[in-house]
Amino acid sequence: MFLEVIWEDSPGLLKIAEWRNQVPASLRAHTETPIRMEHQNAWVKRWTRSGDEYFFIKTFLQETIGYGGLDKICNINKTAELSLLINPERHGEGFGKQAVRCLLTYAFEFMELNCVFIEVYRTTDAWIFWEKCGFIQEGDLKARKFWNGAYYDSVAACLLRNEYEQLKAFRNGCFEGRNDGKEKMVD
Ligand SMILES: CC(C)(COP(=O)(O)OP(=O)(O)OC[C@H]1O[C@@H](n2cnc3c(N)ncnc32)[C@H](O)[C@@H]1OP(=O)(O)O)[C@@H](O)C(=O)NCCC(=O)NCCS
Repeated sequence: MFLEVIWEDSPGLLKIAEWRNQVPASLRAHTETPIRMEHQNAWVKRWTRSGDEYFFIKTFLQETIGYGGLDKICNINKTAELSLLINPERHGEGFGKQAVRCLLTYAFEFMELNCVFIEVYRTTDAWIFWEKCGFIQEGDLKARKFWNGAYYDSVAACLLRNEYEQLKAFRNGCFEGRNDGKEKMVD
């Protein structure tokens, strides 16, 4: 699996639009009108200007399996927010977990960030996924998403550089030290 920078007018943007139209409950911004190429290009222009970084997530067989990235990047505090969406037809095959590893490698090892945070709406049970990826819950944010006539909280969570290093060491088979049962969440 690897990351490829998203560019304007790329055909993959239509796939992203199609997938986003299928999971409005999870999106930060959802609209009644379906997302089209013009919206996608406007989105690419916006994040390019603001310094955010978004990637197609691809398998080594060149299948675009999802997209994800980092926004709200702050190089002074060394923080950024991570986002991810996997093709709904390929959920539950382990691609999400692999994609998070790629994005965290980029964030901590290439960008040298110290804290990667996420906000996950409680409209779905997706938080369980992030917990399995090693993210640690900081608390609930009240009424962050209006969905189907009701307000939903979101989970705020993060991963710090030293926690990332521990997860990596554990995966590489040289983890010692921690004995709190969390190891099984991040195989
Ligand atoms: C959340 C999302 C990225 C997960 O991707 P995925 O490829 O289906 O996840 P994986 O197959 O890698 O799953 C990894 C683990 O998380 C668990 N998991 C994944 N999604 C889950 C969910 N919605 N509820 C409970 N557990 C979940 C899997 O069962 C698996 O557990 P295991 O390691 O014990 O077998 C994907 O469902 C998605 O793109 N959703 C829509 C967008 C979204 O919610 N993005 C996140 C918003 S912050």
